[in-house]
Amino acid sequence: MRKKIVAGNWKMNTTFNEGIKLAKAINDLSENLSNDETVEIVIAPPFTHISGVVKETNQKNIHIAAQNCATEKNGAFTGEVSAEMLKTIGCQYVILGHSERRAYYNENSEVLNKKINQVLAEHMIPIFCCGEQLAERNSGNHFKVVADQISEVLFNLTETQMESVVIAYEPVWAIGTGVTASKEQAQEMHAYIRKIITDKFGLSVSDKLSILYGGSVKPANAKEIFEQLDVDGGLIGGASLEADSFIEIVKSL
Ligand code: PGA
Repeated sequence: MRKKIVAGNWKMNTTFNEGIKLAKAINDLSENLSNDETVEIVIAPPFTHISGVVKETNQKNIHIAAQNCATEKNGAFTGEVSAEMLKTIGCQYVILGHSERRAYYNENSEVLNKKINQVLAEHMIPIFCCGEQLAERNSGNHFKVVADQISEVLFNLTETQMESVVIAYEPVWAIGTGVTASKEQAQEMHAYIRKIITDKFGLSVSDKLSILYGGSVKPANAKEIFEQLDVDGGLIGGASLEADSFIEIVKSL
């Protein structure tokens, strides 16, 4: 049975008080959902809010993620936040390789290899993001782009490490644009990703792998995307900043 996950990526939004209020509202609204053990709700607030959000959320199916972490374990790296620090304040997940970090902070596969090792060393779950730009899809290169992103980072892991990874497919042209991939486009890429993982790590790993779709998921389109065979949930940006719409999306699982 694959884990179904809806993860809310708040990005650099909300003041501390707004974030706490949002987390509390999500926690209250998810009370009736917490009996379904195959569904996980993940909240990824900014670093500064994480401790407060951990305190505000007591439903057993709510888990907390960071949006990033450092490449190194500790030391003289001013301004960085390590995986170990995140683990010790209650984080269970870390989003890695989001397209905004790839585009604005030059996160390439070399950097992501280091980060994923830090996250796995702390026994946290990386949510590894991949996805093509619009020009890459238009030129028919989208499968190769995604395959390269995956092989350059995830193929360095052992089978056991790979078993704790979650992949998020997020076509860059769908992020924050209001344009969603069609359900066919999402299913096609998710099936392709599962096949790559099967070829490298075997069916026993790929069968259990949760692959999330991200990019303009809203309450209105979540259900048809989540119904696809290889879609195991979503990574939600804009619509996760409102408790009602976020929980509506969770209910679409
Ligand atoms: P969006 O963002 O839902 O606002 O498109 C998704 C993401 O960046 O993870």
